[in-house]
Amino acid sequence: MNTPLFQRVAVIGLGLIGGSLAAAIRQQQLAVEVVAYDREADDLRAGVALGVIDTAETSVAAAVQGADLVVVAVPVRATEAVLAEIRPALSDQAILTDVGSTKASFVAAVEAVFGQLGPRVIPGHPIAGSEKSGVHAANPELFANHKVILTPAEGVDGASFERLKSLWEGCGARVLAMSVGYHDEVLAATSHLPHLIAFSLVDTLAGEDQNMDIFRYAAGGFRDFTRIAASDPVMWHDIFLSNRDAVLRVIDHFSRDLDQLRDAIEHQDGAMLLRVFSRAKAAREHFTKMLSGQAYVTDMNQKQVTFRMQPGGSMNGDIRVPGDKSISHRSIMLGALADGVTEVRGFLEGEDSLATLQAFRDMGVTIEGPDNGHVRIHGVGIDGLQAPRGPLYLGNSGTAMRLFAGLLAAQPFDTELTGDESLSRRPMGRVADPLRAMGAVIDTAEGGRPPLKIHGSQALTGIHYEMPVASAQVKSCLLLAGLYAEGATSVTEPAPTRDHTERMLEGFGYHVHRKGATSSVSGGGRLTASEIDVPADISSAAFFLVAASIAPESDLTLRHVGMNPTRVGVINILRLMGASIEVLNEREIGGEPVADLRVRSATLRGIDIPEDQVPLAIDEFPVLFVAAACAEGETVLRGAEELRVKESDRIQVMADGLAALGVESTVTADGIVIPGGQRLGGGTVDSHGDHRIAMSFAVASLRAEGEIVVNDCANVATSFPGFVELARETGIQIAAEGE
Ligand code: S3P
Repeated sequence: MNTPLFQRVAVIGLGLIGGSLAAAIRQQQLAVEVVAYDREADDLRAGVALGVIDTAETSVAAAVQGADLVVVAVPVRATEAVLAEIRPALSDQAILTDVGSTKASFVAAVEAVFGQLGPRVIPGHPIAGSEKSGVHAANPELFANHKVILTPAEGVDGASFERLKSLWEGCGARVLAMSVGYHDEVLAATSHLPHLIAFSLVDTLAGEDQNMDIFRYAAGGFRDFTRIAASDPVMWHDIFLSNRDAVLRVIDHFSRDLDQLRDAIEHQDGAMLLRVFSRAKAAREHFTKMLSGQAYVTDMNQKQVTFRMQPGGSMNGDIRVPGDKSISHRSIMLGALADGVTEVRGFLEGEDSLATLQAFRDMGVTIEGPDNGHVRIHGVGIDGLQAPRGPLYLGNSGTAMRLFAGLLAAQPFDTELTGDESLSRRPMGRVADPLRAMGAVIDTAEGGRPPLKIHGSQALTGIHYEMPVASAQVKSCLLLAGLYAEGATSVTEPAPTRDHTERMLEGFGYHVHRKGATSSVSGGGRLTASEIDVPADISSAAFFLVAASIAPESDLTLRHVGMNPTRVGVINILRLMGASIEVLNEREIGGEPVADLRVRSATLRGIDIPEDQVPLAIDEFPVLFVAAACAEGETVLRGAEELRVKESDRIQVMADGLAALGVESTVTADGIVIPGGQRLGGGTVDSHGDHRIAMSFAVASLRAEGEIVVNDCANVATSFPGFVELARETGIQIAAEGE
């Protein structure tokens, strides 16, 4: 039984929402007593008879008397009058909230009646409803798994906020907090405007045909689209009048866009229609996924996926892992900037590369797909991007943010680049500083972190840059900026890093001069559309290379794996450790070498990892640490401080995870020492939202002695959609919870 959060809850207005809240509070025993007042005595009587409330009161004041929570659940426009009746009876300690669809209007009504917004006034809005109305439709389950938005002011009393939040959570809802202004803008766009359009469309059509005969021929699309035109007219007239300013802004925006479509139809501008429709289709699909909690703009931190692995197993099969992430990002970028249509196959449909794809759609590029890894990009030319309407959200991807920074520095418009929590912590000074030296104007948040605000219309000049760290992202960023710069831009790297940008630029007919450790481009050229076959990602294959090496009786073949010499560090290192990896069918496809890999169980031994292999295996160290833990003898890694600024601090997070399984290691500033031959126990590991950490511990289970649970695994979808299924199919005893 719950300890009641409140003594006496007074609900003013016993309609669908007020009644459902009262019923939920009673059902969950969240208050000792629930009382209500409504202008309709019949509704009050029904409330008692239906068990929705304990007591019906005969006036607002009588209901509010002695209440420690007062919920205003009357139509928005009646709020001020009701507040005037509440005021004399309201205790100082009571929390006052509401359930209205517009929040600035509630705040204005409170200020009008009380003079100010006290610390215990917390506006609220449950995003739940039903076509039915009235207390007879009250349903204690109405809020289960729905969102409730609270819009506390700055000076809110924290304890009161927590209490109200707990009440809603007790009713099964998920509580979000945001500002009043933001709430009203968001609702104007996502709820109010669609209702207005539905009302207006049905009215227009009904008016065109007095007999309404037209509706007889209306198909499912019309029915779906106009369902909300059957909503309560009184309530909606209230909402529009109360949220006037925000609604007017989105109506104007929509009217402008509708006019543009009208013009496009009038002038037979098919390209414009295709652009808008394909962008909208992608947005809609991605919204559908979001609703089921899968899409790349899902706040991954709100979605909890847990991996649970049973110990042991062996790895067998013949598989192809998804497309290379680095190449997928670049294929969209160069395809968008090229003249002509670029066809991409084997594209990684992971959240990071999908975010890049969406960002280009937001800049006016028509992109069809992805459809089973097939993407068709209608390039707009090097100077054809258009200003996006808002910030470009790049999810979890450092690569996207750093490459975009170069590519956008010289555009004739401003842009803002944002990302998820992990990306928001990553250093961007490494690209912002050299770009500034070229003439770019870029603001970062404190410490050189995202968001990046890029001021467009800058004339860039080529520079020569000696990179202080071996980073393909920095190199690629500067080469992309170099396409727009006056003169030559050259970059020298302290050690070889992946060269996909250089290879792909050549594939698009843009010459890259390469000499030793230096690559350079001259600005002012154009790109020609190309065909790209994205190989399977060696970074994703790496989990299976280690898995089949450490698990007994394994024999696994990985097809079409990218074997770019700047990426094969993981194979070199595993072979030095004694792994059995055969490279078969080596071939070159679209400027990138690929091969099939056959890997069998082997007894691994610890090694000193050669430092020159570090940049060539930079993303594979988490799973190599697992190999090291299973090897005989000590493994030492040095010169890998870059690992500390990846999606997580991969040295510390791996050491902590291994420790949770009883595996010792010694963390150093730029690496780690892992004594081999250790027993892996079971345990619970926190992946810190890092996809590669999560997958590494899934691999570790093959040699563990107990169950391994890994928390915070949703981000695996950024680089490896379908990982769990493929891992299970080949021999890892894995289950994902919360997907
Ligand atoms: C990448 C470069 C590497 C790598 C990242 C992808 C790229 O980052 O870790 O996953 O696509 O250019 P750094 O350039 O920061 O080393």
